[in-house]
Amino acid sequence: MRKQIVAGNWKMNNDVKETKSLLKNINKGIKKMSLKNKKVIVAPSFTNLNTAISVTKNSKIKVAAQNMNAAKNGAFTGEVSANMLKSLKVKTVILGHSERRAYFGENDAVLKEKVDSALAQNMKIIFCFGEELSDRKDNNHFKLVESQIKNGLFHLPESAWKRIVLAYEPVWAIGTGETASPEQAQEMHAFIRKTLSEQYTPELAENISILYGGSVKPANAKEIFSKADVDGGLIGGAALKADDFLAIIAAL
Ligand code: PGA
Repeated sequence: MRKQIVAGNWKMNNDVKETKSLLKNINKGIKKMSLKNKKVIVAPSFTNLNTAISVTKNSKIKVAAQNMNAAKNGAFTGEVSANMLKSLKVKTVILGHSERRAYFGENDAVLKEKVDSALAQNMKIIFCFGEELSDRKDNNHFKLVESQIKNGLFHLPESAWKRIVLAYEPVWAIGTGETASPEQAQEMHAFIRKTLSEQYTPELAENISILYGGSVKPANAKEIFSKADVDGGLIGGAALKADDFLAIIAAL
C-alpha cells in the first residue's frame, strides 16, 4: 500500500521562535490523530532545521530540507551539503521545486546531480516538477512533465525508487490561489504512473507516492486527496498555520 503523505514546504518563512511555536501547535493537534499509513513532513529553512529536529524529537513529524547542493563539500559559499543535513538527522530533502528551477537556475541536469548526491548519502527525496500555464495552454503539459521526470530520475536503478516521492506541482497553481481541479490532478498523476510503469515496472509505479501541490487548503484538500492516484500533498501557504495544516492532514 502506498504511503499517504502531507508535507509542509515553509519556504523562506518563520524564524526560530515561530518555528518552535508552529511545530508545538502541530504536534499538539497530531497527537490526537491516528496516522496509520500516513506521514507528516515539515520543511523549514536551513537555519531552523536544528530547532525543528529537536522540537519534533518524540513526535510523528519528520523534518525535511528544502534544498541542498550536489557537491560533498568545498568552496561553494552559502551552500549546504547532504552530509551536513544528515549530521543534523535530516534524512529527506525536497529537490526540483519550481521556485528553485525558476529563480536559481536549477535545470534538469543540476537536479539529476542533486538526486544522485542525495541518494549517495542514503537520503530520501521529494522530487518536484510541473508545467507552466503556457505549457498547459499549448497542450504540452504531459510532454513537459514526462521530460522533467525522465531527465531527473530515469537514470536511476529500480532499487533507488524506494527513497523517492514525487510531487506534481503545476506552476500556475503555486501560491496563486488557483488549484488544479481534482480531475486535472488525477489525470496527470495517472499519466505519471503510466510513464513509470512503462519505464520500470507496474509494481514500481503502483508503489510510488505522488503528491499534488499548488494552493491546497483545508477547503479543497479532501476532494483532491480522494482521487485514486493522489497520495497526499505538498503544502506551501497553508502549512504556515497550524490549524490549516492539521485540517489538511485530517483530510488525508
Ligand atoms: P502553495 O505552495 O500551497 O502556497 O501553493 C505549494 C508549494 O510551493 O509547494
